[in-house]
Amino acid sequence: MTMVVGKPLLTVEQIHKRVNELAGKISADYEGKDLLAIGILKGAFIFFSDLVRYIHTPLSVDFLIASSYLKDESTGEVKIHYDIREDITGKNVLLVDDIVDTGVTLNYLRERILMQGPQSLKICSFLDKKERREVDVPIDYVGFEIPNEFVVGYGLDYDNKFRNLPYISVFKKRT
Ligand code: IMP
Ligand code: MG
Repeated sequence: MTMVVGKPLLTVEQIHKRVNELAGKISADYEGKDLLAIGILKGAFIFFSDLVRYIHTPLSVDFLIASSYLKDESTGEVKIHYDIREDITGKNVLLVDDIVDTGVTLNYLRERILMQGPQSLKICSFLDKKERREVDVPIDYVGFEIPNEFVVGYGLDYDNKFRNLPYISVFKKRT
């Protein structure tokens, strides 16, 4: 079996421009408010660090590690491997993820955070694979809507590989 990574679906330039735009919107929306940005690892690590660099309102960061995928299949079950350490009661929380696919992961994390009584909760996802949605979870900021293909790069992986690709590419397995 060979694994093929094709030409960019989203280029470095497109990504950079869009992330900057998203950060602009977020900065405007949180003007005068404290923000706690929570990055969902591992997938969001590159998007998260690019995004927060462009947000010019004050913020704190935290992270959690969650997984629901084995290679390129969703297991439908979310596991938390490392949890946030900040107290989120009364905070304006922004959850940042790499991609919304079935919506199971973000829906689970959203409900979990809401139980802890934040002042507000919004969700930002770099990519949105709308066609695959099974659970209707509200996404406040979306970088790009993409077709129903498995993608890698810019933090997204296949079997924990290709995360370091600086752009987004469709991933194919050939036998
Ligand atoms: P969901 O729970 O089905 O919405 O899946 C969300 C998680 O699955 C994302 O945070 C990714 O880690 C992973 N995922 C979904 N689609 C892809 C993809 O095309 N490439 C890489 N990871 C993906
Ligand atoms: Mg993820």
